[in-house]
Amino acid sequence: MKTAHSTHSSGTIHRRGFIGAAGATAALAAGGPAAAAAGAPYRQPPLPYSENALEPVITSRTLSFHYGKHHRGYVNNVNELVKGTDWAGMPLDQLVVQTADNPEYAAVFNNAAQAWNHAFYWNSMRPGGGGEPPAELKKMMQDVFGGVKACCKKLADAAGSQFGSGWAWLAVDGHGTLNVLKTANADTPLARGMTPLLTIDVWEHAYYLDYQNRRGAYVAAVLDKLINWDFAMRNLERA
Ligand SMILES: [Fe+2]
Repeated sequence: MKTAHSTHSSGTIHRRGFIGAAGATAALAAGGPAAAAAGAPYRQPPLPYSENALEPVITSRTLSFHYGKHHRGYVNNVNELVKGTDWAGMPLDQLVVQTADNPEYAAVFNNAAQAWNHAFYWNSMRPGGGGEPPAELKKMMQDVFGGVKACCKKLADAAGSQFGSGWAWLAVDGHGTLNVLKTANADTPLARGMTPLLTIDVWEHAYYLDYQNRRGAYVAAVLDKLINWDFAMRNLERA
């Protein structure tokens, strides 16, 4: 179904111990964007800021298309696809996990995962973001990657090297290990028993109006000016 999620950069974190897939899912049901976790009919959660709040890094033009057309389209599609099925009423994050890796359910998975990933992405940024992460997250990055800068470089490399459409992620895996990884198309660490901490959308629709083909410039600006370490920390605390 999905072309694969690919590389990991990781190290061991001695913080939480084992986090099972069910635990991660439950945590995200509580910790992810609330409206995205509710059962069908799924509602598109409101943007956590105004459409021009991320300028000049991401323009209101990009946000209006990205949020208003692309994200909304995935939410509408998944509602159509689950109507009258046993999946109707299932929390969105559970639907993603249930339909992963089954070619028969590819359309449901792709739209459900994209609906979930986008809600998560909006919260992964904030006006006036970037800078230093909270102390605990910073220490984890130090232990695993050698520092915040090195972790950001891993994220930028993951985002830049994702061939075609996809996502770059900071996540904690089922063994309590901090990972930087990239996924293709709609794929998400949520479907892999991991707890996502934050994500960067590297589909062209995320940056092409503002940066054309310069994906690296978009990713660097997001990491420098917008990335929401507090959101990552909140997800880590719930992992
Ligand atoms: Fe997107």
